[in-house]
Amino acid sequence: MDSRTALIARLPKAELHLHIEGSLEPEMLFALAERNDVTIPFKSVDEVRAAYDFSNLQDFLDIYYKGMGVLLAEQDFFDLTWAYLERASADNVRHVEIFFDPQGHTERGVAFETVLGGINRALAKGEAELGITNRLILCFLRHLSEDEAFATLEQARPYLDRIHGVGLDSSELGHPPSKFARVFSAARALGLHVTAHAGEEGPPEYVYEALDLLKVERIDHGNRALEDKVLTQRIVDEGLTLTVCPLSNLKLCVIPEIAQSPVRRMLDAGIKATINSDDPAYFGGYVNANYQAVADALDLSDADLRSLARNSFAGAFLPEADKTRLIAEVDAA
Ligand code: HPA
Ligand code: ZN
Repeated sequence: MDSRTALIARLPKAELHLHIEGSLEPEMLFALAERNDVTIPFKSVDEVRAAYDFSNLQDFLDIYYKGMGVLLAEQDFFDLTWAYLERASADNVRHVEIFFDPQGHTERGVAFETVLGGINRALAKGEAELGITNRLILCFLRHLSEDEAFATLEQARPYLDRIHGVGLDSSELGHPPSKFARVFSAARALGLHVTAHAGEEGPPEYVYEALDLLKVERIDHGNRALEDKVLTQRIVDEGLTLTVCPLSNLKLCVIPEIAQSPVRRMLDAGIKATINSDDPAYFGGYVNANYQAVADALDLSDADLRSLARNSFAGAFLPEADKTRLIAEVDAA
């Protein structure tokens, strides 16, 4: 192992952009399909992996929503989340902020409580046995309506002790943040943290809307913000965290090659960029693989890698005292 790889492995990290349904590995897809008697259009794990060849976000989402169709019972959501936490632990991830897509399940007849129950049971076990702290972020599917988002927020209301924030994901183009301004306002009034995917495929205007209309605390992806100098400076001035996902960007053709990852430019501009895996089962790597890919392609220094790890804790939805303690652990690593 070279010294850069060793540093990546050793650094304590937070993962702030991870869709739990996107951690469904092909092996588990097959096992759950069998356990739940669900038909999937693949004969082998190799055939599944071969299908993970995407030309844009929608290409991926079509397969992602089909894949989650094997998740039916509370135990399925537990197994999925536990498998992710074990992998995160192996990468020395100390804190996770996990997205889940309840509408992808309730629209198939799976109860909100089933989804939340399984994820939460695994998160509690992860904290007790692996020492990984967590936050859970409910994402609204932006291709669905504002009314459906409000209905989902209503379903979440009895469980706000276990749900810490809301996010916005799914098909970005044609579904600007403005469509969800009122439901985000309602979520903020309930004391929830707020973040949104913006500027992955969508234009800088969508990032402005996420900031001005949704009043987000972080931007998920945010690649295209760099096209706008004023917006870039605003992100710097406001100290906003961007959750960048390098292997996702590559697989979804947001960038033509990893060397085009915006991480270097963001760090140079003074933006608090972080490295995340997004949907690791679909994009070919967990958090350390994402660090490694950009470190190699952009020749990141040890100081850059430490900055990225520090940013991951600084941008977390954690109390300041916890952030300070975890950042000190990065400095000591
Ligand atoms: N972008 C938008 N929606 C998503 C993603 C993503 O990268 N992953 C899962 N849902
Ligand atoms: Zn995402």
